Amino acid sequence: MTEVQDTRDAAPAEEVGENPLLEGLRIRRTPEACVLTIFGASGDLTQRKLFPALYALAFRDLLPPQFGVVGAARSAIDTEEFVERMRAAVEEHGRDEFRQDVWDELAASVRYVSMDFKDEAGWQRLIDALTELDDERGTGGNRVYYMAVPPSAFEGIVAHVGERREAEGWTRVIAEKPFGHDLASARALNATLAEHFAEEEIFRIDHYLGKETVQNMLVLRFANGIFEPVWNRQFIDHVQITVAESVGLEGRASFYEEAGAVRDIVQNHLLQLVALTAMEPPIAFDAESVRTEKVKVLKSLHTPGPKHIIRGQYGPGLIEGEQVPGYRDEEGVGPESATETYVGGKLYVDNWRWADTPFYFRTGKRLPKRETTIAIQFKRAPKPPFEAGSEDGLRPNVLLLHIQPDEGVSLAIGAKVPGQGMAIRTVHMDFLYGGAFRTGLPEAYERLILDCMLGDTTLFMRADEVEEQWALVDAVVAAWKRDRPSFPNYAAGSWGPAAADDLLHRDGRSWRRH
Ligand code: BG6
Repeated sequence: MTEVQDTRDAAPAEEVGENPLLEGLRIRRTPEACVLTIFGASGDLTQRKLFPALYALAFRDLLPPQFGVVGAARSAIDTEEFVERMRAAVEEHGRDEFRQDVWDELAASVRYVSMDFKDEAGWQRLIDALTELDDERGTGGNRVYYMAVPPSAFEGIVAHVGERREAEGWTRVIAEKPFGHDLASARALNATLAEHFAEEEIFRIDHYLGKETVQNMLVLRFANGIFEPVWNRQFIDHVQITVAESVGLEGRASFYEEAGAVRDIVQNHLLQLVALTAMEPPIAFDAESVRTEKVKVLKSLHTPGPKHIIRGQYGPGLIEGEQVPGYRDEEGVGPESATETYVGGKLYVDNWRWADTPFYFRTGKRLPKRETTIAIQFKRAPKPPFEAGSEDGLRPNVLLLHIQPDEGVSLAIGAKVPGQGMAIRTVHMDFLYGGAFRTGLPEAYERLILDCMLGDTTLFMRADEVEEQWALVDAVVAAWKRDRPSFPNYAAGSWGPAAADDLLHRDGRSWRRH
């Protein structure tokens, strides 16, 4: 950690090439030739995440030289217009400067096919476009099909692309979240996928796994000697996981009204963070080993009883000084909506490492700020041997993993306040990604698209993981059906319902201060 500070203070940003900590960034593999087809290409995800990610990969020369992209969607536009829209999207949402030469090369590989996924003529146009790209660009029949569409459209697409595999080349499918609506629908999707694809050809996205800081959890735990020995119920008092957002609905009412926070965040991102925090060391960083360890955690989770799950919905309030409407006043939401925009709770991982160690979690929209953190709170040290009152400013040790923003890790420790006597106060040792590596962090989708093209499923969810996650969420949702919540129960811009504070207070604990 000291080294990090040194590096940050040492050299101006232009000299990044001389930073020895950048060494690791040079590890790179380039995928084989292939064509990426995006179903649902006129949607928000393609503009905000997928094309900016493709541009970032092109910018770093990480795409294969023989590459093609096909956008497929219902919008009746042609390739020229699609390319123009994607260019605007890259300029608006990309993380790099816009370079005409990089864009021109990427744009030359793009085709657009306007199609209804139920219409055979549309499928024929898609096949023609793919064959043309194979001929022109030497993409060799290798295919990635990205389903950026609602789960209801998955089945038809999977059947089509599964039946029309090329004689030469490989075929892989990426399933964007949500992966179903409950356990039954997720099982049905898994069954459909399994009819046509082997598990190693299926890439179920949880974009949190593509985040550098989420992967760093594994490095922190398993590449350092000092954490793993204390990473258990003997030393850890409890864990707090926060996935807070200040944004509201962002025009997604029809999706969110059906999903709510429990399906939108808890079922996937949050439970993945629990699994990564609690898992045993995998024997290797490969898809089978990592995912098997995560599934063991998910299987060990106790379904929380109603007293251990708190749901909330925001009313009107202030975000960064601006008045914002309550959830029920958002466009597309009914005045009686019982959809939860906040979920907090307490989970137990019932195994030898974690028994009786609570994992508290909370996620919500319209909370005061965007922040995803994992706080590992250690047990208090015995009373220090100094004069009475010396430890008044001392809080328990906390290892805080900042997933976003301000990506990094911070350790809270007690230190002597300078001067007479032995007063102790809590201070922080900080590692900041930006300071240490002095390079912007890649977006999750860059890593995930690349890994799929490389055929690596480690950072994607396996069928049994998704099903375990749904089993827990289904149990929570079933318990909620028994009574009607009294919503709204927290003001926009606050840290959620009072009941979520009580949940910790009852245990003699409180949420981390911000
Ligand atoms: C998505 C959810 O999966 O994750 C959104 O559907 C949420 O509701 C988003 O806003 C948060 O992602 P990130 O990367 O901004 O934390």
